[in-house]
Amino acid sequence: MSFQLQTRSLLLRQSPRFQAAKQEMLSVILESSRMLQGVKSQDSRQVRETYSKLLQEFSRDRGRDLYFPFLASGLGHGSLVELADGSVKYDMITGVGIHFFGHTHPALIEEMIDSLPSDVMQGNLEPGIEMQELLRLILSKVGDQSRLKHGWMVCSGTMANEIALKIIRQKKATATQILAFKDCFAGRSTTMQEITDNPAYRQGQPIYGQVHYLPFYNPEVGLKASIQATQRAMEEHLCRYPGMFACLMIELIQGEGGFHYAPQEFYVEIFQFAKKVGLAIWVDEVQSFGRTGELFAYQKFHLNEFVDVVTLGKMLQACLVLYTEEFNPNPGLVAGTFSGSTVALKTARRVVELLCQDGYLGEGGKIEKKSARFVERLSCLQKKDGSGLIGEIRALGGMIAFVPLSGSMDDVKAVLIKLFDRGVVAFYCGHGPFLIRMLPPLGVLSEDEIDQVCAIITEVLAEQAERKKGVQS
Ligand SMILES: Cc1ncc(COP(=O)(O)O)c(C=O)c1O
Repeated sequence: MSFQLQTRSLLLRQSPRFQAAKQEMLSVILESSRMLQGVKSQDSRQVRETYSKLLQEFSRDRGRDLYFPFLASGLGHGSLVELADGSVKYDMITGVGIHFFGHTHPALIEEMIDSLPSDVMQGNLEPGIEMQELLRLILSKVGDQSRLKHGWMVCSGTMANEIALKIIRQKKATATQILAFKDCFAGRSTTMQEITDNPAYRQGQPIYGQVHYLPFYNPEVGLKASIQATQRAMEEHLCRYPGMFACLMIELIQGEGGFHYAPQEFYVEIFQFAKKVGLAIWVDEVQSFGRTGELFAYQKFHLNEFVDVVTLGKMLQACLVLYTEEFNPNPGLVAGTFSGSTVALKTARRVVELLCQDGYLGEGGKIEKKSARFVERLSCLQKKDGSGLIGEIRALGGMIAFVPLSGSMDDVKAVLIKLFDRGVVAFYCGHGPFLIRMLPPLGVLSEDEIDQVCAIITEVLAEQAERKKGVQS
C-alpha cells in the first residue's frame, strides 16, 4: 500500500464537520435542481421585460448580440438548464461541448464543494495536488502502444494547440510548415486562425503562409480514391517546399467543419505516409475527447502508435497537450501564469473517472447506445428520395449532426431559433450544406429525453417545411 500524505487540508476535508456541511450543501443543491422538471417557458411579461433588458445591456457591453437570448441562472438538472429568466430548456449543445455530464451533476458538485478551501487558480510555478492527480490519471489512460508520455496544462483548447505547434516546431527546426485538412478548426489565435480553414474567422488578419490544406475523406468517391487524393496533395506540397514541413495536424472527427470522419484505413494510410516523410502527427481532440465511445478518439480508430502530440479540452473541464518523449520541449518554451482553476482541475479528474468507471465507453457502452437512439429517431425523418425533413445524419458517439431541410444557412438559423423557443438549445456546423449540431449531455441524458428532444425537432422541422411551402406558393 502506498504511503498517504497527511496534510491539514486533507484532514479538513475528511473532518466530520466538513463532511456534514458538504452533505447538507449537496442535498440542498440537489433538492433545488430536482425542482427543474422539464421544459418551461416564462409567462410573466414583467420577468420577460427585465430579462430582455439584461440581454440588451449585455449585448451593448459586448458590442454584439448573443446568438441566442441565453443567460444561464447557474442551476440545472441533468440535460435541463435554467436561464436567468427562470425558463428551462434541454441543452443539446452544452456550451459547445463543455457539459457532457449535464448541469448540476451530483459528483461534480461534490468536487466543487471539496475545492472550496483551496486557492481559486493554479499555475506552473506553484501547482496544486489536483494538477498532479489529473495529469497522472490522463497519462495512465493513453492506451497500449501509445508513446504519449508527458503533458502540459493550459486554460483553453486554442492555447493547447499553440503549445502543440511550438513543441513540434522546436524539435523539427528548421521545418515550420503545417499540413492540415480542408474545413478544419483549431481555434482563433493569430496562428490557429491561419490553420482554421474559414476565411470569415480571419478577416483583416495576416496570413504567414505556413498552412497547406489537404482534402479530407470524401465518402462520395470512396476510400481508395480519397486516400490517393490526400496522398497526392501531400506529395505535391512536400515537393514544392522540401524539408520545410514539420507536422500533419488533424481532427479525427471534424467538429466545426461538419462532423466528418473517415474509416480507420484512411487515417492509417495517411499517417503511415506522414511518418515515412518525417512529419509529426498532431491530433486535435479538443472537441472529440471523451465523446466517441473511447476516451481518446485516436483509440476509437486504433491509431495509438501514430500520435506524437494530442490536445484536449472542452468536456474535460481543463485543457492539456500530451506529447511523446521526443517532443518534450526545452525549458522556457512553454509556461504561463494560469493552468486552470482548482475546481476545474478537480472536476476534470472526476469527469475522466466517471467516463472510465460507469460503463460509458466501449462497444455497447452508454455513449454508443444513446447515440444509436438519437440516430434511430432522427432517421425516421429521412426519405430515400431526399425529400424528408432531414438529409444526411452524421454521428459518432456524442457528436451528432443532421442536415435540416435544404441545408441552407437560412433553414438552419430558422430551425435553431424555433428550437430554442420550444425549449431545445442546439447549434450549427459545416460549410454548406450546413448542419444542426448537437454535443448532447450523454453523461446524463435518458432515452426518454432523447425521444422528447427528437419529438420537438420533428415538430419544428415540419413547421418550417410548411412555412417554406407557404412562401413558395
Ligand atoms: C477541434 C477544436 N480545436 C480547438 C478549439 C479551440 O478551443 P477553445 O475554444 O477552448 O480555445 C476548438 C473549439 O471549439 C475545437 O473544436
